[in-house]
Amino acid sequence: MLDQDIKKIIYSKEDIAKKTAELGQVLGEKYQGVNPLVVGILKGAVPFMADIVRSMNIPLEMDFMDVSSYGTGTVSSGEVKILKDLDTNVEGRDILIVEDIIDSGQTLKYLVELFKYRKAKSVQIVTLLDKVEGRLVDIKADYVGFNVPNEFVVGYGLDYAEAYRNLPYVGVLKPEIYETANE
Ligand code: PRP
Ligand code: MN
Ligand code: MG
Repeated sequence: MLDQDIKKIIYSKEDIAKKTAELGQVLGEKYQGVNPLVVGILKGAVPFMADIVRSMNIPLEMDFMDVSSYGTGTVSSGEVKILKDLDTNVEGRDILIVEDIIDSGQTLKYLVELFKYRKAKSVQIVTLLDKVEGRLVDIKADYVGFNVPNEFVVGYGLDYAEAYRNLPYVGVLKPEIYETANE
C-alpha cells in the first residue's frame, strides 16, 4: 500500500483538518461580502483548495492555474511558464491564491506580479506549508498553515515524481524509495 513508502508522518490528517478549519474561518471573515476569486495552483494545491473553500462558508468563485518553471536544471531560472491560464478576468477582483507549499518563492512571486499587472484589486496568499529556508526570492504568504523544515515532503497534494498526492497526510518518504528510483 501507498502508506508503506512513508517513513514518518509530519502533519496528520487530523492536524490538517484542524488547521484548514481555522484558516478557513479566518479567511471567510476576511473575504465576507467581496466575492473573492480563489485561485488554486495545479496540481499540488487541489486537496488544500477543496478543504479551505469548504471551511470559508461565504460566497466565492474558484478558478485554477497551472504553471511550471522554465528549464530542467536544479537551478531554476526563476522564469515561469503558464500551462493553463485562468478562465476569469481578475481586473478589480480580490484574489486569494491557494498553494500547498512555498519553497523558492518563484512561482508565487510571478503569480502575484501577474495578477497585479492584470489590475487585481488585491492579491493575498494562503499556503498550507511554508519552507522558509528554501526561499530564493522575497515573497511572504499572508496565511500559513505550518512552517515546514527543509525536508522533502509528500502527501496532501505534494508529489514525488507525480505520486503520493493522494495521501491524506504530509510525510517523509523512506530513503530507499529515492534510492530505487536512481538505479
Ligand atoms: C510545487 C508546489 C508549488 C511550487 C513551490 O509545484 O506545489 O506550486 O512547486 O515551489 P517554488 O516556491 O520553488 O516556486 P510544482 O511546480 O512541482 O507542480 P505541482 O504542483 O503540479 O507538483
Ligand atoms: Mn504546485
Ligand atoms: Mg511538484
